[in-house]
Amino acid sequence: MTDASKLTGFHHVEFFVSNVLQAAYYYQRVWGFKVQAYQGLETGVRDRASLVLQQGKVRLVLTAPLQPDGEINSFINRHGDGVRNVAFGTDDAAAAYSMALAGGAESVAAPEPRSDEHGSVVIATIRAYDNVLHSFVQSNGYTGPFLPGFGEYSGPDISSGDVGLKIIDHVVHNMPDGRMESQVQFYQDTLGMHRFWTVDDKDIRTEYTSLRSIVVANGNEVVKMPVNEPAEGLKKSQIQEFIDFNIDAGVQHVALLTGDIIATIGQLRANGVDFLEVPDTYYEELADRVGPLDEDMDVLRKLRILVDRDEDGYLLQLFTKPVQGRPTFFFEVIQRKGSRSFGKGNFKALFEAIEQEQARRGNL
Ligand code: FE2
Repeated sequence: MTDASKLTGFHHVEFFVSNVLQAAYYYQRVWGFKVQAYQGLETGVRDRASLVLQQGKVRLVLTAPLQPDGEINSFINRHGDGVRNVAFGTDDAAAAYSMALAGGAESVAAPEPRSDEHGSVVIATIRAYDNVLHSFVQSNGYTGPFLPGFGEYSGPDISSGDVGLKIIDHVVHNMPDGRMESQVQFYQDTLGMHRFWTVDDKDIRTEYTSLRSIVVANGNEVVKMPVNEPAEGLKKSQIQEFIDFNIDAGVQHVALLTGDIIATIGQLRANGVDFLEVPDTYYEELADRVGPLDEDMDVLRKLRILVDRDEDGYLLQLFTKPVQGRPTFFFEVIQRKGSRSFGKGNFKALFEAIEQEQARRGNL
């Protein structure tokens, strides 16, 4: 397995948003993130303001424009608030970048050393597809709060408190019909990734709609990214609804890993997160489908947590509704108990729930 990219995990995910302070308020109050760093006018940056939010090793960067025109405004105008950059940690950003370009990636920024009193980093960026980028961040030994160029945030700490989120488990990309295979090949050619898991439209279908998905992973499988495309059904695939409102390919969801999903979902529900509605019927069949669990089935039912089992163990997961007006990006919360897969057995139950939402929006 070639692993010249030497990826060490997801370093951060950057969102372009129209109002960085109000978006940060949501992540602090509802999701319990803390602001770690700031970049903007006070740090000498004139065209954008960014806040870095952290919980466990999950880092979200929110960036808003301070001027008309430019890449942030054109992104928001076309896609709405959404993910601009899925950044990977790496032991060698220059090598990762060279390998990506040799594999056919478009360069966005060549490897650039940056340093401040906390140390040095190297960052390089390629285009993933359409308006989504991947940065390679080599920051081993850097001791600052985020990256050089970012300073202290002077606002009050309004975090509602850690809800147990540890790391980014996976990031999911939605492609228009016919582009899944070529995007998977792109990740194989440019990042040295391999096919980790595949589901075809026979696995993920309901009476009405379906999708195809291939999961790619790096050599040590700390970076896992499902790539989806819509498949033909009697009615519109949820992936097609995403494409219709995102206009192009884009990041569909970021999955956040917790070590105690009952505590995490309980707190997030109390904080006001709007999760996908799981039908009662799901729990009638659950015990037969997944067998004995460590968790109390009544608690799982009350919190509407989903469960799936495979040959290695089981996983518990739940999905939010879209977190902006457009039916595009959402979050997943996941706990793994041995399982390394993605909840194939949940797809049918889940899709029926998603389709109820789609029908309410007049998009099914
Ligand atoms: Fe997921």
